[in-house]
Amino acid sequence: GAGSSRRLRHVSSVAAPPSKVSRLNAVVLGDALASKEDDLVIPNPDFSAQAHVHSPGKYLEMYERSIEDPAGFWSDIASQFYWKQKWGSPVYSENLDVRKGRIDIEWFKGGITNICYNCLDANIAAGNGDKIAIYWEGNELGVDATLTYNQLLHNVCQLANYLKDIGVRKGDAVVIYLPMLMELPIAMLACARIGAVHSVVFAGFSSESLSQRIVDCKPKVVLTCNAVKRGPKVIHLKDIVDAALADSAKNGTVVDVCLTYANESALEKESTKWVEGRDIWWQDVLSKYPTSCDVEWVDAEDPLFLLYTSGSTGKPKGVLHTTGGYMVYTATTFKYAFDYKPSDVYWCTADCGWITGHSYVTYGPMLNGATVVVFEGAPNYPDSGRCWDIVDKYKVSIFYTAPTLVRSLMREGDELVTRYSRKSLRILGSVGEPINPSAWRWFFNVVGDSRCPISDTWWQTETGGFLITPLPGAWPQKPGSATFPFFGVQPVIVDEKGAELEGECSGYLCVKGSWPGAFRTLYGDHERYETTYFSAFPGYYFSGDGCRRDKDGYHWLTGRVDDVINVSGHRIGTAEVESALVSHPQCAEAAVVGVEHEVKGQGIYAFVTLVEGVPYSDDLRKSLIMTVRKQIGAFAAPDRIHWAPGLPKTRSGKIMRRILRKIASRQLDELGDTSTLAEPGVVDQLIALADS
Ligand code: WTA
Repeated sequence: GAGSSRRLRHVSSVAAPPSKVSRLNAVVLGDALASKEDDLVIPNPDFSAQAHVHSPGKYLEMYERSIEDPAGFWSDIASQFYWKQKWGSPVYSENLDVRKGRIDIEWFKGGITNICYNCLDANIAAGNGDKIAIYWEGNELGVDATLTYNQLLHNVCQLANYLKDIGVRKGDAVVIYLPMLMELPIAMLACARIGAVHSVVFAGFSSESLSQRIVDCKPKVVLTCNAVKRGPKVIHLKDIVDAALADSAKNGTVVDVCLTYANESALEKESTKWVEGRDIWWQDVLSKYPTSCDVEWVDAEDPLFLLYTSGSTGKPKGVLHTTGGYMVYTATTFKYAFDYKPSDVYWCTADCGWITGHSYVTYGPMLNGATVVVFEGAPNYPDSGRCWDIVDKYKVSIFYTAPTLVRSLMREGDELVTRYSRKSLRILGSVGEPINPSAWRWFFNVVGDSRCPISDTWWQTETGGFLITPLPGAWPQKPGSATFPFFGVQPVIVDEKGAELEGECSGYLCVKGSWPGAFRTLYGDHERYETTYFSAFPGYYFSGDGCRRDKDGYHWLTGRVDDVINVSGHRIGTAEVESALVSHPQCAEAAVVGVEHEVKGQGIYAFVTLVEGVPYSDDLRKSLIMTVRKQIGAFAAPDRIHWAPGLPKTRSGKIMRRILRKIASRQLDELGDTSTLAEPGVVDQLIALADS
């Protein structure tokens, strides 16, 4: 067919790439091909020929330079951005070893710039003012809008001027609680323009979670909308914000202004509850402000944003990213990992409430002057073909999503995909959790018509951008492997004692050295930053993930090794769910583990011990689940409540999660040694109640 010359081929032999790869622990591929384990997908030569990085050799040349001379490598790239004043010397400084004092990372210190200027003004100055910046696709079919770069700048400036007018200054926090309206990236960029620090809270979080974040960062203003439709459901966001602000006030944080976008397709203004003196309609005030606004020039190390993420304790962590390094890193990773070209139309299905939406809906793409699709709705509304409808409508060429969506669409059958053309697609991307080989294959063969390389990007809120990712067209791919490190990144796999493992190995994934996009601290708690990330294996950043490196040097992520679970690509701390459960008056104790889930990747499985004398019931089960929805958000609701008369504990009172995980996944013959339990009988009780 017409597409066949562009297809990637499955081949059984490949010319060996250069073998100068010892630093990477990669080996010549020739050998590997004999083995069955290796299922290589080779990029089509025509694809490679046009790619930024067209061969393993080219990758290695760039990679080697990035490791041997990070200052030179990143300076050359950083010079392509607009700096009011160039950074000083050294280009970067770091101490990543707790034994040597405070953990400290700085890149381009002394450089004066503004990321909003680089996203908008710089692209407009380069002649792209009339290029589409955002194709916005509403929840309902046929509801859409566009903004050119010029128009986006005007909107951003109006909001920036308003924020300045109400007293928001450089360094002040602004909380954004918005769904995927254009106003969400507009709000982020407006904050960046005036040097304010945005803290976007995913609009699926409950009022209690929102309030907790507000109390932590104390914003002057919260930006939200009255309501949103997702699929057939109307969600009253303003009600959630009202409850959060009332809560915050009780805890000593009074927010002066709640700027509310009237999203009248979901709810009329008249039906929106209103607090006079605090609440302001976005549309009423913004049009009065000028469409230009001077930028606040900031130091590369001035904070850009805070984003709260889950850890292994109950309290969410405020991950802090600064300006210069994050800017350079997100733009560069975007360009190379998606082989971005100015003619591409790019769609990332993530919500801006998560890091993926920060780095790869807003900043990375816009720094490159890309055309970005922003989708308000749900991928299965009105039916599960919606994604491909959108791909065809906007001629999307780069489609970036999460394995959970791939798996759920896979279950709906191929016809919902193949009825759409999808011929604009060039590159696919995956993020959030390991993509299992069968989902990879379906994504590759069915969605991408065996034509589009898949960039399986491994990274974290903390890392700012991709750390391990394929570069399309460079290396042969292995379904399910995130392949090799990005430029400047030195992943190491260590054993439990922190010794670096060489060659084919499996262990804890750490990173040696820093990269420009790394987070700089946890807001207000530098000590927790040091203990959480730099103390487990001194000298390294510890990711919390497990990883295997195969004999060809490919990396295979194996999931979290700490008490964090990954549900549909969302990070949830087991401790957060447990503390929500035990706040229920009838719950005495709870232990939460992750369990394999066909669509979500991991499901939430909760063992619950009730207060003495309270009987088990389905109503109680529902009410426990409601408590978690209310305290965290619907996405954290347990899939399963398992009644537990007692929990398996050691004599010192530590819950043995290893045993709970086995019971949750019904691997009852693999319970292992239970002799250290204080009361071995609880295991049998739990097994007896497994299906009740
Ligand atoms: C997991 C999301 C395997 C991992 C960008 C990590 C992945 C956590 C991948 C971070 C991937 C993300 N392959 N696992 N391609 N991408 N993860 O902070 O466990 O929401 O530690 O950042 O997601 O989640 P976070």
